[in-house]
Amino acid sequence: MSSTNPQRLHVACIMDGNGRWASRRGLPRTEGHTAGEAALADIVRASADRPVGWLTAFGFSTENWVRPRTEVRHILSLHRRLFARTEEMNSRNARTRWIGRPFNEKGSRTPVYVQKAIAKAISDTQDNTGLTVTIAFDYGSRAELVRAAQRAMAAGPVSAASITQNLYDPTLPHVDVLVRTSGEARISNFLLWQITGARVFFTERTWPDFDKNQLDEALALASGHYA
Ligand code: FPP
Repeated sequence: MSSTNPQRLHVACIMDGNGRWASRRGLPRTEGHTAGEAALADIVRASADRPVGWLTAFGFSTENWVRPRTEVRHILSLHRRLFARTEEMNSRNARTRWIGRPFNEKGSRTPVYVQKAIAKAISDTQDNTGLTVTIAFDYGSRAELVRAAQRAMAAGPVSAASITQNLYDPTLPHVDVLVRTSGEARISNFLLWQITGARVFFTERTWPDFDKNQLDEALALASGHYA
């Protein structure tokens, strides 16, 4: 599926550099993540006012569990804060979705309080018809693709369509522009199937400093009007 309507672009964000943002200010890394969550909330608001139909953000990867326990705990609690922003989402006709390793799958480590926060956010915003905000939590693209391939094979001949149908969210459209902050010109393990053909917007700014002007630059790149 593709977001062919140019007025409904799909923006995907790899929100890198929270730690560097904090250490440049002499703050603990956790403060960088707190600022990162606030920056994402700003970008959600800005996206709702722009021709963005889908915003997908990499909140926590399958590889992030190995970070120090206090940092992991802090990032998890920020997810609870983010998923609790349902009033804001409803006031903007925006709905929340989630992609990631299913909670009942072997190896899932998502605490029950995060599972509940995700389920509540999805259900409290499900009737909204504007922007769709998808948070990738405990997400890894390779794991998603292995699972999709296994399920597709079990069901019959494998095709691109059958793999797409077995992704965590088969309705997630093709990405129009992938943003990565913090001067890292690489993709990591994010939406590898969905970014085929996407424009890529790399910026030196750390994620907490990514603002609506930079979002506009990324959108212009995706719309083919990059100045
Ligand atoms: C990378 O910064 C960021 C992450 C671990 C994922 C993004 C997390 C946030 C934006 C915080 C909260 C987000 C949500 C969705 C609630 P880094 O620590 O790798 O930065 P560094 O490369 O400078 O160390």
